Amino acid sequence: MLNDLKEQPADKILMLMQAFREDPREDKIDLGVGVYRDADGNTPIMAAVKEAEKRLWSAETTKSYTGLAGDPEYGRALGDLILGDAVARDRRAAVATPGGTGAVRQALELMRMAAPGARIWVSDPTWPNHLSIIKHLERPSSPYRYFDDATGQVDFDGMCADLDAVAEGDLVLLHGCCHNPTGANLTSEQWDKVADLIEAKGAIAFVDIAYQGFGDGLDADAEGVRKLAARLPEMLIAASCSKNFGIYRERAGLLIAIAPDAAAAKTAQGTLAHLNRQNFSFPPDHGARLVTMILTDGTLRAQWQEELEEMRLGMLGLRRQLADELRQRSNSDRFDFIAEHRGMFSRLGATPEQVEAMRRDNGIYMVGDSRINVAGLNARTVPILAAAMIDAGL
Ligand code: LMR
Repeated sequence: MLNDLKEQPADKILMLMQAFREDPREDKIDLGVGVYRDADGNTPIMAAVKEAEKRLWSAETTKSYTGLAGDPEYGRALGDLILGDAVARDRRAAVATPGGTGAVRQALELMRMAAPGARIWVSDPTWPNHLSIIKHLERPSSPYRYFDDATGQVDFDGMCADLDAVAEGDLVLLHGCCHNPTGANLTSEQWDKVADLIEAKGAIAFVDIAYQGFGDGLDADAEGVRKLAARLPEMLIAASCSKNFGIYRERAGLLIAIAPDAAAAKTAQGTLAHLNRQNFSFPPDHGARLVTMILTDGTLRAQWQEELEEMRLGMLGLRRQLADELRQRSNSDRFDFIAEHRGMFSRLGATPEQVEAMRRDNGIYMVGDSRINVAGLNARTVPILAAAMIDAGL
């Protein structure tokens, strides 16, 4: 059996992590994987998380199993953070999953089970692992235009034109905020139009929200997902706590299914728990428990929000610095979109050859499609990146 295995295609982002580690240059700059870094290049544990861990250590009396859905309080607390009061709680089913990736996977499993003929529509471009999991589960998919490389903005006309072909019951995968890999996001009015379109088509919105709080703030970043939830009878949401709680390796994710009514939500809850059982049984609990403790304790929550806000403002400052630097060096405003983008990422619009040149000549690592992780920069390295971009011919 094992002799028959073929090499699997390497994940572009993970491959880049490896290449960066192996580069002996001391002044190399990592703008690859989407992990938050402070000005010293560290990914610290948030103080609110440390404090929750301390409390958990002294209060926890057992490591016995939770439930297949995880702790229901986690689903409620994180569901409230994402959805606010956009939809009645009794229409929400939720299960804890191993990270946001686990939630994406379980959502697609649910789709395969409940709507095997449905097609999933994905933004072009999207997070590469979306496409990989869709392929692995053999789900039919189609891309919709999303990003205009020439302007660095959302190609909203192209998006709507492509989504016009969505059939009833199809899934439309949307990034809740901080689009990965482009950094270009829908405006409030555009979310309304997308909601109109999905409603008119009788399609199902599937929102992946992995960066809530990294863009314009916790509530602002959830505006799109809340608008959809308030309007549509059914919806799926894959959420991650990796980035906004900085607990990447704890694998804390949540899959929410919004059903038309409480009875359907109950059945969905049972089905999601069943799917967890088939795939991994009980979801990881440690990270999810920390999140619940933070969200339900006034002091911890305030501390976490403050830390998150500091991270967000730091990334915004770096965006502005990079856009300013490029305005001076290029004598043009063609890179202003970097300051308008939100979240960790921006797609710069460099060719693969230019990306390669920056890596070879300057030790700057970004994903091959020219996605940079803004948090990988600091005040000292911004001018280095800007100079390298201009040298590479951008
Ligand atoms: C990224 O896009 O870099 C992150 O979401 C990390 C990952 O798993 O790819």
